[in-house]
Amino acid sequence: AAGLATALSSAAMAADGMTVGFSQIGSESGWRAAETSVTKSQAESRGINLKFADAQQKQENQIKAIRGFIAQGVDAILVAPVVATGWDDVLNEAKEANIPVVLLDRGIDGPEDLYLTSVASDQVKEGRVAGQWLVDTVKDKDCKVVELQGTVGSTPAINRKKGFEEAIAGSKNITIIRSQTGDFTRSKGKEVMEGFLKAENGGKGICALYAHNDDMAVGAIQAIKDAGLKPGTDILVVSIDAVPDIFTAIAAGEANATVELTPNMAGPAFDALAAFKKDGTVPPKFIITESKLYTAADDPKGEYERRKGLGY
Ligand code: AHR
Repeated sequence: AAGLATALSSAAMAADGMTVGFSQIGSESGWRAAETSVTKSQAESRGINLKFADAQQKQENQIKAIRGFIAQGVDAILVAPVVATGWDDVLNEAKEANIPVVLLDRGIDGPEDLYLTSVASDQVKEGRVAGQWLVDTVKDKDCKVVELQGTVGSTPAINRKKGFEEAIAGSKNITIIRSQTGDFTRSKGKEVMEGFLKAENGGKGICALYAHNDDMAVGAIQAIKDAGLKPGTDILVVSIDAVPDIFTAIAAGEANATVELTPNMAGPAFDALAAFKKDGTVPPKFIITESKLYTAADDPKGEYERRKGLGY
């Protein structure tokens, strides 16, 4: 993540010497792998001792890891919560132990006093940006959409669906005809898209694919090609993350648009923890990252190269 190396302010350096536990979900997507590598390099550049635990997509593993961090007496805990519910007990234990918790990239259903701050995108907005792109692109044309949802019960899956539906609500010509989870993975995205294509007369009636992340879109693009159709032309493809591989697909005309999610959630999280440690400064409850739309008009080859310097 050389591209993220920045001169750190003295406030940010207050994190120097802290021990921080990080309960990561797993490595289901290219974006997730980049978030892990960026978090590690951000910790290193600030002199933070990062204890990393990969939960292999299981909430029970995350809860175990958090309990382990509490037992070790870490200074703070970062957690990317795989699903929204079921965190109250373990986060109360952290609170009782006076260990600040920062949520990364996904939210939870639970009292806001269980965490110091949450660093994440506005996921409803991401869905809206993707949906608005489709509305603007198809105009009055009838458009049947298939949707690949993220992990069931996760806030990005819930909110990205909601935002997209909001954006297309005023366009009676656009309808979601099938919607199923692909669990944010490339392999599941491909498999579920194959099912959609089969169920929809080989895909002839499908106008667009909306995938809650780029990895599922990349898997689905392969399924569309295998079915003898042209992704990006016969079936429009819009997704979320802005990972390097989607820019390769956009440059080749096989995907149309993506909404950027920065993999650098840890930088703002460590800044907030450093200020809190230094003089008790309480950060805003929600630190919201940007959601920028990229299409073929935005130099996809250049964006691919730029991503390579961002920790991907
Ligand atoms: O929580 C963020 C989502 O999780 C990313 O969009 C997706 O790629 C990841 O798996």
